[in-house]
Amino acid sequence: MLSIISKNPEETQKFGEKIGKNLFPNSIIALIGKLGSGKTTLIQGIGEGLGVLSPVKSPSFTLIHEYQGPLPLYHFDLYRLTCEEEIEHLGYEEYFFKKRGVVVIEWADKMESLLNFPHLKIKIRMIDFFQREIILISRGIAYKKLVEKLLNH
Ligand SMILES: Nc1ncnc2c1ncn2[C@@H]1O[C@H](COP(=O)(O)OP(=O)(O)OP(=O)(O)O)[C@@H](O)[C@H]1O
Ligand SMILES: [Mg+2]
Repeated sequence: MLSIISKNPEETQKFGEKIGKNLFPNSIIALIGKLGSGKTTLIQGIGEGLGVLSPVKSPSFTLIHEYQGPLPLYHFDLYRLTCEEEIEHLGYEEYFFKKRGVVVIEWADKMESLLNFPHLKIKIRMIDFFQREIILISRGIAYKKLVEKLLNH
């Protein structure tokens, strides 16, 4: 388990950008963190790094938001998900494996039992008002390499 400390929203966004620049087709990122911990801030950075065309926004009533770009971004916001069947009915596997984009899942703990294939898990822990610990947990070799890249320079 590896982690970095972010001291303000800009640092979280910058770290997201770095992640976005290093992602590959069909990559999956599972984000876990309390309300207001900075999940969306990190995803906005990922969108920037990926070069998606419109800025990533905060949640609405849609569970899956699509952003077009060189690698499209599929932002799952599962805050309002009531059960795993709901996301199964939305055809989440299609987004994971068939669309050649990047999937980033906010509130990924809500579909935890479905995430039994390689992905990068990111936990955001609130230390105080501005400080966050961003914890990276890789599941699979491609994500282990990604984490090495993210922390090495
Ligand atoms: N180091 C930090 N990194 C990220 N956000 C920070 C940091 N310090 C303070 N903040 C503030 O915390 C809030 C994070 O909001 P954001 O919408 O990104 O969180 P979230 O985890 O997506 O919340 P929600 O659970 O409501 O979707 C913002 O108001 C931001 O300014
Ligand atoms: Mg959010």
